[in-house]
Amino acid sequence: MVKVGVIGVGTVGTSVVKILNDNKEMITARAGREVIVTSGVVKNLAKERGLDIKLTDNPYDIVNDPEIDVVVELMGGVDEAFEVVKTALQNGKAVVTANKALLAYHRYELQDIAKDLPFEFEASVAGGIPIINALRDGLSANHIESIVGIMNGTSNYMMTKMTDDGVAYDAILKESQELGYAEADPTFDVGGFDAAHKLLILASIAYGIDAKPEDILIEGIENVTQDDIAFAKEFGYAVKLLAIAKRDGDEVELRVHAALISKDEMIAKIDGVMNGISVVGDKVGETLYYGPGAGGDATASAVVANIIDIVRSGKSAPMLGFNKPLEHGLTLKAKDAIASKYYMRFNVMDKPGVLAKITALFSEHDISIETILQRPSGSESVNLLLSTHMAVERNIQDVISVVKTLDFVMADPVMIRIV
Ligand code: NDP
Ligand code: HSE
Repeated sequence: MVKVGVIGVGTVGTSVVKILNDNKEMITARAGREVIVTSGVVKNLAKERGLDIKLTDNPYDIVNDPEIDVVVELMGGVDEAFEVVKTALQNGKAVVTANKALLAYHRYELQDIAKDLPFEFEASVAGGIPIINALRDGLSANHIESIVGIMNGTSNYMMTKMTDDGVAYDAILKESQELGYAEADPTFDVGGFDAAHKLLILASIAYGIDAKPEDILIEGIENVTQDDIAFAKEFGYAVKLLAIAKRDGDEVELRVHAALISKDEMIAKIDGVMNGISVVGDKVGETLYYGPGAGGDATASAVVANIIDIVRSGKSAPMLGFNKPLEHGLTLKAKDAIASKYYMRFNVMDKPGVLAKITALFSEHDISIETILQRPSGSESVNLLLSTHMAVERNIQDVISVVKTLDFVMADPVMIRIV
């Protein structure tokens, strides 16, 4: 019999306990041994959970318990979770976590501490989709050329509802929280940080890049308006929060931001809480992974798969899939050197010379305009809609900062990258 302690019996932890119970017979057959959750950790012991396990409010009751074989960390957060997981590993426990924020900061350190102990984290990226397994094992023969994906269920759910049903941003964020999709602090979802944490985990496995969230370009969906969603729709685009890792020579660019994607692309059709990730390998070509990216049962499905795997194989592969620097030794591309096509919207006064001034500024900043369109927005103002050819991020940022200061510009410029 294998004894499991679950640190954090909330949305995901409760589902883990229930799946191990509901599918007990099949899981025992697959794991080769019976797996039981003996204890769990919560903050609020007074709350009724309806679960038949011993509860404590002290994570160290579990990590220091000699009876526990596998520690499952589902409490979230970075600093406290790091100390708890570190102690569990130092005490010789196998560990499973879904905590991408923890891994975004401490994955290399934890790999060093874990050494040969099983340390698994499938649920940390894209909930129920086995993308870590695919990247670390299934595609291990490939140099990875790119990873492009929708990796945050909450923001995808929000963008879908805003696009299809015109639901207001605040109402749909509240609904995502009630459905158990959002992080404890939902600014991680809408601000792009959660997707960035996941991207950093995948980038480590694919490229051996040891970057932290503050090193990469991260923007969220907070500034995407119904107006821009409507314009995007009219021109054949969907608006999605994308996480992108792309190899370019000896550099890797990592970025998270809202993006316009042609409606014909597979990834543009991924709606609701679903996640979808395209991975291009140099030998296999493009592979695509699709499934539920958040929610208790979908996430717990991946957590329990890790537990079964550990029990079945006692596996001790290096957690990031390699135990010395990857041979290609790539470096991170500077944020302002990233190149893209851009959509921009300037709300400007409707008077002579405005268009000429703006197009001159673009030319001075070496930005080539692909399309330009003017739409009325009020009695004296218009929306100037522009798309560019490939341009460099620093030039775009420079031009925006100049446009902002012009006296005929009536609102903050809007910029969304086109992918
Ligand atoms: P919840 O907030 O629902 O659950 C967290 C649990 O941990 C609660 O039971 C809470 O206790 C307990 N807890 C938190 N801090 C402490 C502490 N200091 N001491 C003791 N107990 C504590 O979070 P989720 O289940 O949604 O998420 C858990 C982890 O899984 C996070 O890292 C999250 O990022 C990750 N994840 C979540 C997904 C999802 O769809 N929800 C998907 C993929 C990953 P109490 O119940 O008393 O508040
Ligand atoms: N809050 C996350 C999301 C949970 O919405 O994708 C899954 O990691």
